[in-house]
Amino acid sequence: MDRAILENKVNPIVPYTSWRRPPGPLNVWKVVDGYKNGEPTKFKIQEIPSDRFEEVLDHMCDYYLADEPQFECMKARDDPLLVYDQRLLWRLFLKQGISIGMFTDNSNGEKSIIVGVNILLVETKDDKAVFAKFRQNYLSPRGSQMDAVLWPLFQEANVKSKLKEHKYLTSAGLSVLPSFRGQSFGGKMLDVREDICRNYGINLSANCFSSDASIKLAERSGYGVLLERDYEKILNNQNQIAFPNCRSKTFKFMFKRFI
Ligand SMILES: CC(C)(COP(=O)(O)OP(=O)(O)OC[C@H]1O[C@@H](n2cnc3c(N)ncnc32)[C@H](O)[C@@H]1OP(=O)(O)O)[C@@H](O)C(=O)NCCC(=O)NCCS
Repeated sequence: MDRAILENKVNPIVPYTSWRRPPGPLNVWKVVDGYKNGEPTKFKIQEIPSDRFEEVLDHMCDYYLADEPQFECMKARDDPLLVYDQRLLWRLFLKQGISIGMFTDNSNGEKSIIVGVNILLVETKDDKAVFAKFRQNYLSPRGSQMDAVLWPLFQEANVKSKLKEHKYLTSAGLSVLPSFRGQSFGGKMLDVREDICRNYGINLSANCFSSDASIKLAERSGYGVLLERDYEKILNNQNQIAFPNCRSKTFKFMFKRFI
């Protein structure tokens, strides 16, 4: 089923999570140097304006769902229901207003290009019901299958109680446009989480890093490991490898404190 038809058909109301970004102008966290078509260029890492949310969702569906190892194994990009479920979840995250994008500098007046995205959320102990409802309402059987495999690992990682924080910054996807990969832009977006946490009074950043490249960037950014599992040891309820022929070796829950 086509994405637009699906969205019209279901037309869900996306709820709010417990934490809200305080009102105020969007923060530009960092301006960094990189290359575009071989030319040195400046890039801004900043909070995403709401009028670019749909483009950000398109980026995530087109590139993240195609290339992130778990979604790649599930052929998520070819499953309109899974695309729909995921888009809805990301909408929930975007609504908090602290997700970041990496944009080409637009001081010449041209519309900036979205070069990278990190979908972020401040999660608290009061968000259980919102996420439980989301999980119950998955439309995609493949999405539910992934959830059944990954949810117990999230429970095992148990970030809030193991790290003794009732709220923390978490992520639902780090992505760089394929033509801009190889410049560690993902690492630069990860480093910005320190500015975000210090600005909003959050002591901890923690999430699962599902690809070898993002694990390398997280290690470089000073993240420690809370839970680690090789993909070949993650089984589904039929005792089969849940993510067969996975491009990455390991899956790690990692964290960094900012106190
Ligand atoms: C993860 C991602 C954001 C990183 O992009 P990036 O910042 O451009 O990263 P780079 O290509 O510069 O790679 C960073 C490092 O990882 C290494 N790397 C890249 N791919 C790798 C792989 N498959 N296995 C091991 N290391 C890898 C690079 O060599 C580089 O190390 P170096 O700096 O020592 O040379 C990007 O690959 C992406 O969007 N992937 C698809 C979505 C995804 O998997 N997101 C992560 C989920 S948590």
